Amino acid sequence: MYLLGIDIGTSGTKSVLFDELGNSVASDTQEYPLYQPQIGWAEQDPEDWWRAVYTSISNLIAKTGVKDIAAVGLSGQMHGLVLLDKNDIVLRNAIIWCDGRTQKECDEITSIIGAERLIEITANPALTGFTASKIRWVQNNEPEIYEKVAKIMLPKDYIRYKLTGEFATEVSDASGMQLMNIAERNWSDVVLQKLEIDKGLLGKMYESQEVTGMVSESASKLTSLKAGTAVVGGAGDQAASALGNGIVKDGIVSSTIGTSGVVFASQNDISIDKLGRVHTFCHAVPNMWHVMGVTQGAGLSLKWFRDNFCNDEVNVAHYMGIDPYILMDKIAEKVQPQCEGVIYLPYLMGERTPHLDPYAKGVFFGLSARHTRAHLLRAVMEGVVFSLKDCFEIIKNMNIGVDQIRASGGGGKSKLWRQMQADILQTDVVTTNSTEGGALGVAILAGVGVRLFDSVEQACENLIKINETQKPTENTYDANYSKYKKLYPALKGLFKEE
Ligand code: XUL
Repeated sequence: MYLLGIDIGTSGTKSVLFDELGNSVASDTQEYPLYQPQIGWAEQDPEDWWRAVYTSISNLIAKTGVKDIAAVGLSGQMHGLVLLDKNDIVLRNAIIWCDGRTQKECDEITSIIGAERLIEITANPALTGFTASKIRWVQNNEPEIYEKVAKIMLPKDYIRYKLTGEFATEVSDASGMQLMNIAERNWSDVVLQKLEIDKGLLGKMYESQEVTGMVSESASKLTSLKAGTAVVGGAGDQAASALGNGIVKDGIVSSTIGTSGVVFASQNDISIDKLGRVHTFCHAVPNMWHVMGVTQGAGLSLKWFRDNFCNDEVNVAHYMGIDPYILMDKIAEKVQPQCEGVIYLPYLMGERTPHLDPYAKGVFFGLSARHTRAHLLRAVMEGVVFSLKDCFEIIKNMNIGVDQIRASGGGGKSKLWRQMQADILQTDVVTTNSTEGGALGVAILAGVGVRLFDSVEQACENLIKINETQKPTENTYDANYSKYKKLYPALKGLFKEE
């Protein structure tokens, strides 16, 4: 028996086949374009996602010859807006998570519902990334399109519709639409009514592990999956990769350094940061919620440094056939913690947690003639961990325990960066055997849906193992972190000036 996990990402879709022990057997990735018709806009064609999904599944099945796939789990980029008319025709390109055109609509939503009430119901302030403001943008700017809308969907739920013909969603991804009562795990009549969105335009709400439909005859022809294969709810990409890291217990928190940095903790009871600095969403496990702090420029900061200041390392690494980040780690290792006073603020893309400030900018502070490129490099790595610490501080203040940190993402591969996390956060940092985060997470949900596993918690316990633990050594970073905390408030006013 096999399980299939599909991750509909922003640059491409990755389909991964797993055996019953959660081992990845084979994978296939298909890429597609991102359209930016104006600065700050981001759109994709849902047909591109569907083509990528059926091509990657049929490639996988052709290359492995595997026939007995027990169930499919869907994961993917959250928040995107897909609009269909009554004949199931896509009405416009999807407006996706990283599109920033909707600040005016966010202000409208906040004034219609009230800032406090909005956070009380949807557990989050109005943010441009979330779907509600994108719907309002279409209502405001393309009324002739909105008039024709018969179905509103998230990216992975469009794929569900194409695979099964069922119009459905599930709690973890739908949380990021900002149309739910997060405590009740269902659509909020209050929000829908105030934003003049007909509930009939939204899919049926499921828990993430529930079977939402079966692969249809027509989808079977395109994908080579057997007609009648179960498709479970699945999860938004963050909840899915948290499951793939086993984040289903109090005290175990993940820190993922990808382009952005995400600190993710599960909770048995819902708790909300009244200032909305961390997101609270339904977790992909029944009766669980999660909080998530997001720092925008994490891996992105180091990539920026690599691309602008590490040409030699990139060339040498190319000849050695290794990753340039390995050479960059060696340079950073030679510098003492705290970089002899250099501090970096990683706000190259503005910041979500804790500042919710799109105008924030990156900063190197404390330079003297003594300092070298190596100091700046290490300062970038330390600054990213300081921004993760800001997320952890808020989460801890919400009375969520942090006993163990599971490092993942590209940045999680660096032993030096993990040790900085252990030291700065004064907590054990571990890596796991799971390399296919999101796809494994939804394959686990698929396995639970068809009763191959008893529960998500049980499956995580059995399938996800700790590889390596790094213990905190002496915390030598306090002085720089306390200055780091003072720098944003001191510079805030200047960031906004043209
Ligand atoms: C989550 C978020 C991203 C997107 C795209 O809030 O914005 O994780 O889902 O990956």
